Amino acid sequence: MGTSYTEGGAHEAVASPSLAIVKYWGKQDSRQNTPATPSLGITLSGIETRTAVTRGRERDAVVVDDTPQELSRYVPFFTYLRERLCTEARFHAESRSNFPAAAGLASSSSGFAALALGCAAAAELEPSREQLSEVARIGSASAARALFGGFTALEAGAAHAVQLRDEHFWPELRIVIAVTQPETKETSSRDGMERARLTSPYYRAWVNDSRLLFTTATEALEERDIEKLGTVARMSYLRMFATMFSSTPPLIYWQPESVSLIRLCEELRREGVTAWETMDAGPQVKMLTLDNDVEHLVSEIEERMPQVKTIVTRPGAGAHLASEAGAGG
Ligand code: PMV
Repeated sequence: MGTSYTEGGAHEAVASPSLAIVKYWGKQDSRQNTPATPSLGITLSGIETRTAVTRGRERDAVVVDDTPQELSRYVPFFTYLRERLCTEARFHAESRSNFPAAAGLASSSSGFAALALGCAAAAELEPSREQLSEVARIGSASAARALFGGFTALEAGAAHAVQLRDEHFWPELRIVIAVTQPETKETSSRDGMERARLTSPYYRAWVNDSRLLFTTATEALEERDIEKLGTVARMSYLRMFATMFSSTPPLIYWQPESVSLIRLCEELRREGVTAWETMDAGPQVKMLTLDNDVEHLVSEIEERMPQVKTIVTRPGAGAHLASEAGAGG
């Protein structure tokens, strides 16, 4: 890993969110923040979090979009980072994303991936990608995947993610993000998945079933079979939501536009257009499609739902320092 010096001696790290095709939802061990289900993610290009880190202050501090953050959310992350990377350093991090944060667009995945890498660079350490992925996992398990580019897996109970295929493996693949509501969500994914684990009668079935979905999705990826991958992606997010709807109290992230987009994808698929939707802990809808169909899909959304903003992405690079070209395994 090279060293990046930005203005003021900060080390700037860049990371893009990891969108789960097969979802992680529920913790195997909440202290270690290991997932109960295996997940398959795509690191997205174009949307990113940039985090500039300096060291040498007395306390750790994190500022997101100019707002100082409550440190308690970050204490386990910094404690684990110092232990795992054998450093005494304290960090000051300033972070900014070019997409709405905490709105179900996986900003915690890019946020903690960039933070882990930025802190290591600021402390002049050169940990392996796997070590960085472990550190990022403590902040947000999906961030373990965002250290790597392309297609990634985070096994149930795993300490770190692995790269299955790089970002060049499936050049035709596109991911369209439909932002229905950019406001911050009311319930974090952390709280939502814990509520599902503790109260949903369907949670066990979700965990037991997750292995089959993961295996089928990895096969579909190897075969670059969009129909097979899209079918599993739908099962995964809808089964995950089944645990939310059946929690006490129930958790409903969906907005009317989310349902309209789900219906639109169904309609387009009937017409032969590739559009396989997935959702996370928020109302936004992400759609898997191919380069030939992306224009059609986006224009249908814009025509029918002018208030919905679309972002077209594709598999992208893993977390890297601003001074480096897209890297990350
Ligand atoms: O990593 P967290 O705590 O932000 O949770 C991520 C949960 C989902 O986005 C819903 C699924 C996933 O695997 O990314």
